[in-house]
Amino acid sequence: MVEEKRVSADEALGRIKKGSRVFIGSGCGEPQYLVERLVKQAERFFDVEIIHVLSIRDPGYTSTGLSGHFRVQTFFVAGRGAREAVWEGRAEYIPIFMSDIPRLLNERRLEIDYALIQVSPPDKNGYMSLGIAVDVAKEAVEAAGVVIAQVNPAMPTTLGDSFIHVGEVDFLVDKEEPLLEVGKPPLTETDLAIGRNVARLVEDGATIHAGLGHLPSAALICLKDKKDLGIHTDMLTDSTLELIRSGAVTNQKKEIHRKKVVASYCLGTRELYDFVHLNPFVELYPVAYTNDPNVISRHERMISIHEAMEVDFTGLVCASSYRNRIYTGIGGLVDYMRGTSRSSQGKFIVTLHSLTEDGQCSSIVPGITPGSGLMASRAAVQYVVTEFGWTNLHGKSLRDRTIALLEIAHPKFRQELLSRAQLDGLLAHGEPITFSTAGIYPTEMEKKIIRRDQNLLLRPAKPTDLRSIQEFFYGLSDQDIYYRFLRSKQAFPREEMAAIVDIDYHYRMTVLALSGEPGSDKIVALGRYIAESAEGLAEIDIAVGQDHRRLGLGQAVLEVLFETARVKGFPGIKALVDYDNPRMIMLLKKMGYNMRAILDHGVYEVEILFEEKSAEPSFVVTYA
Ligand SMILES: CC(C)(COP(=O)(O)OP(=O)(O)OC[C@H]1O[C@@H](n2cnc3c(N)ncnc32)[C@H](O)[C@@H]1OP(=O)(O)O)[C@@H](O)C(=O)NCCC(=O)NCCS
Repeated sequence: MVEEKRVSADEALGRIKKGSRVFIGSGCGEPQYLVERLVKQAERFFDVEIIHVLSIRDPGYTSTGLSGHFRVQTFFVAGRGAREAVWEGRAEYIPIFMSDIPRLLNERRLEIDYALIQVSPPDKNGYMSLGIAVDVAKEAVEAAGVVIAQVNPAMPTTLGDSFIHVGEVDFLVDKEEPLLEVGKPPLTETDLAIGRNVARLVEDGATIHAGLGHLPSAALICLKDKKDLGIHTDMLTDSTLELIRSGAVTNQKKEIHRKKVVASYCLGTRELYDFVHLNPFVELYPVAYTNDPNVISRHERMISIHEAMEVDFTGLVCASSYRNRIYTGIGGLVDYMRGTSRSSQGKFIVTLHSLTEDGQCSSIVPGITPGSGLMASRAAVQYVVTEFGWTNLHGKSLRDRTIALLEIAHPKFRQELLSRAQLDGLLAHGEPITFSTAGIYPTEMEKKIIRRDQNLLLRPAKPTDLRSIQEFFYGLSDQDIYYRFLRSKQAFPREEMAAIVDIDYHYRMTVLALSGEPGSDKIVALGRYIAESAEGLAEIDIAVGQDHRRLGLGQAVLEVLFETARVKGFPGIKALVDYDNPRMIMLLKKMGYNMRAILDHGVYEVEILFEEKSAEPSFVVTYA
């Protein structure tokens, strides 16, 4: 059967009729030789419509001279050649969810007359692998009247659901040639800072999907220190391979396809293609499966990472097109957004640079630029990450979203954006919103700790914590409030609490311990210091929630405050402690410094100098 079907490219392509529609294999799996022969014979064809999922090169059939012969329709725009063809009207872009393309073909809503694909040589049973481009190739083969396959020994044999039988193909054209390749994108320090911020949101044992772009690549590279990650994705790249090779990926904790990387296609280099070849660790499936939101949602802790161009104050996310220019496409973004939103502890993460490419404008904007493509609605958006930090918009009001986004906007635009938000009525005039314009949120201070099997996050306070701080204080007993404020207090008004988040990470610092998912977490401890002058002592106060006492949390928060004060050059700390509060005295002792105190009207004014560290701290009291 194999021999009968073996023909030359020209013989096979000679069957293509005028006015027909031809599907061409995707991305790096494009059957280049068949395409080149097709273009060579262009004069023979009229109004042949070419359909592909994505093309990473300019294959020639979009050139102006061939416009009466070929017309290209693409589901995704990748690479300069394809982009320019779309911008100049030589090719057309069809917006569609990746998971919907198979149905479009299956149900013949877009009829395909011919499919040009590329496969590995047939095995002894007549099976050929679709290799690195499984994506929608099976559906195209089933839907097409005539299937022409370039048989290329360079095409890896991939496991999973990647095989078709020679019986499904009409013509086999033998041609060995190197596959198309896409290298790793060059990453800047800002890309990596964003990647590191994404890594803060990823727990060990999570399952990862990363979309196209520099920032998802940077994020993958920054996940190397994690443990037992899983991969369930549509696209495998050399960055994914780098992560796999680091040892961070075991797939052990996946709920389905345990111990397997699952993907649909590869956009990488020969190194990746050699890795996936007959590798039982990796399985490739059609996008109808990998991008099915129901399948995605079956993974707990599913993480999906994407790159955006703009995010507006209300949480609308622009990706794929900007000012009426298509840059990419919808691809798998919405499929994975739907899937992760239903995954237990799943996170949908949108990354973006805080500035536009030319550095002239903020990418966090009052409203999306007209003509830009919306990818995530306000209701669907969750995590947004820039080089200045991360935030979770899900379940937040428009007001709180605005504040949260301003926290991670570029500092040079924060004031301007704040004024604009007030003008637009998103924030009230005169509201106590205090962005740390004096300092940039130090993401590197975020620290995960475990107490009583609970994951807690220690971090500096943010303006969006205002409400949680109020809730924290309202949850303390009258006695604790008295110890913390040295007076009774009935209310904790926003105006007063605003001072606690108005920090500069130097003279004014607040550290929180939080439990729960970032963004919908609860404060379980709060400590801060205020320093009046560079030479003076930093005055400290602290409170730990009743359910989290005696876990070393007070100590952990004080350690961060002590260390920050020490690094900022303050000589030591002081604290006002009620005479009846031995717990606080014990806690301070635990910090390991000699202590001096003046007892005045039932309150110790405790002083600690950082240079007086001691294994057996003294506590010398004088009376006022
Ligand atoms: C004082 C307070 C902050 C301690 O927080 P905490 O998280 O329970 O303290 P830690 O678990 O970190 O304890 C560290 C050390 O402090 C001492 N300590 C804390 N609570 C203690 C208690 N109830 N009895 C005796 N020692 C205690 C111990 O030396 C302890 O070390 P250990 O557990 O190894 O013996 C907490 O009780 C609190 O919030 N109280 C109300 C508010 C307040 O008093 N604030 C101080 C105003 S400045």
